[in-house]
Amino acid sequence: LQVLKEKEEIRNAVKNARLAGKTVGLVPTMGYLHEGHLSLVRKSASGCGITIVSIFVNPTQFGPMEDLSKYPRDLTRDLELLANTGADIVYFPKKDSMYRDGFSTWVNENDISKGLCGKTRRHHFRGVLTIVAKLFNIVQPDVAYFGQKDYQQAILIVNMAEELDFSVKIEICPIIREQDGLAMSSRNAYLNPSERKEAVIFNRTLRFVENEFISGKDSVEDLTMIGSVYFHDNSSTAKLEYLEIKDAETLENLKVIDEYPAVVLIAGKIGKTRLIDNLILKKSDQPVFTLMDEMEQTGKTVTDNFQG
Ligand code: PAF
Repeated sequence: LQVLKEKEEIRNAVKNARLAGKTVGLVPTMGYLHEGHLSLVRKSASGCGITIVSIFVNPTQFGPMEDLSKYPRDLTRDLELLANTGADIVYFPKKDSMYRDGFSTWVNENDISKGLCGKTRRHHFRGVLTIVAKLFNIVQPDVAYFGQKDYQQAILIVNMAEELDFSVKIEICPIIREQDGLAMSSRNAYLNPSERKEAVIFNRTLRFVENEFISGKDSVEDLTMIGSVYFHDNSSTAKLEYLEIKDAETLENLKVIDEYPAVVLIAGKIGKTRLIDNLILKKSDQPVFTLMDEMEQTGKTVTDNFQG
């Protein structure tokens, strides 16, 4: 496992890989890796000739009151995990090489990024899209892997790749969960034992909404209302930020879930820790749906340069 810090080093490594006929997979991360990240690395390692994992705690996606300085970091542990998971190169850039003084060029999305998490995290998606665009330009991967847990982020990245003509295939991989259903996240490390117990309310609420949907309720207003009531009745310290049901492909509003697929998304706080989760809503007789399948069916993934 090689650790490279400079853009030139990455570009050379990618050039050499291509000369050797290898396809290039990129897994962008902010480090403090867990099984969710490792599932992306395994997917890349099995599908691409080389796998590059970037580790960069991107300051521009954190708000002024958010947890940038406290964001968990453990490079030694990350490198150990990656060496055992099939990664070839870790790209670990310095902040100054990503953002020079006076940096002022941004990727802004003006629609989907304003709702859901964008309501409370005003510049978050501008920071995410800008750093992901930079990583795509530096690494020029054939395939880039992201997790479905950050659903709004995933849709925004797929749209950005399409609208700005990045020649990369975007793969969105399923959420990896703890045994009790809590979606894996680096932020789970902030939870104390009683908060950790309570954190399961986010996934339980999604499952409750799913059950109500399966048993026949299809009004978005009704489902979100009973979901919110369930959350409030079954949590003590957790605070709900939003529970919304959207078109799974476009994240547009729905009134009724009649045309599949839909996605129910939840965000909230336990103490100071902000958690998010989501679940695709499908009836049992519907074929299994993943975000990735849907993107493929609708031709939304960009496959131009994909040889792997
Ligand atoms: O999902 C994340 O960890 C980050 O938002 C990403 C995509 C690595 C950009 O910093």
